Amino acid sequence: MVIKNIELETVCGITSTLPDNTLPEVAFAGKSNVGKSSLINGLMNRKSLARTSAQPGKTQTINFYNINQAMYLVDLPGYGYAKVSESEKKKWGVMIENYLHTSKQLRAVFLLIDIRHDPSANDKTMYDWMVYQGFEPIIIATKLDKIKRSQVQKNIKAIRTGLDVRPGTKIFPFSAETKQGRDEIWDYIDSLVLE
Ligand code: GTP
Ligand code: MG
Repeated sequence: MVIKNIELETVCGITSTLPDNTLPEVAFAGKSNVGKSSLINGLMNRKSLARTSAQPGKTQTINFYNINQAMYLVDLPGYGYAKVSESEKKKWGVMIENYLHTSKQLRAVFLLIDIRHDPSANDKTMYDWMVYQGFEPIIIATKLDKIKRSQVQKNIKAIRTGLDVRPGTKIFPFSAETKQGRDEIWDYIDSLVLE
């Protein structure tokens, strides 16, 4: 996708009604701080349109970025953020699940996992839930710049094993620092949303 124009079109909080979009959507899920908003900035060639933070729990709404009036990149709040109360966590969980459930335009869900670490129990729960809902989650292994090149294949294998992904599942390594992996992810998104 050649980015021509971008607009943060809709921001949904816990009590908002989700938009009934007519353009295709792809969404990015993953635990707090894994790099969802940074990835979306990387895909959009923007430094900070999607707000990021070193502190987990930055994105607290579902944000719909309209790309070229052709599709949406959907930034989701992270899960597993320890500082948030249980009731708050539950509300976000419900909001994310509700979106993933009800969107008519959702073409793919990307699940982001930090390439440095084995997937957590929450990651596994999220992955299994997505599969159960009928999605074929695509994995993005984030923060690629933080490990040595010689570690990449081993760590990707650990993610594959830790999530026990279905055969054929795609795993894209990505770095928001170097933008490595950006073109591959766009090629894949293009193949999903462009007729
Ligand atoms: P929440 O909105 O809290 O759920 O987090 P998020 O998943 O949107 O993470 P965000 O993009 O805000 O990034 C969290 C932190 O990780 C920030 O300090 C980013 O700069 C950093 N970060 C994200 N991606 C990368 C990456 O590829 N490489 C490096 N080195 N840092 C990254
Ligand atoms: Mg975020």
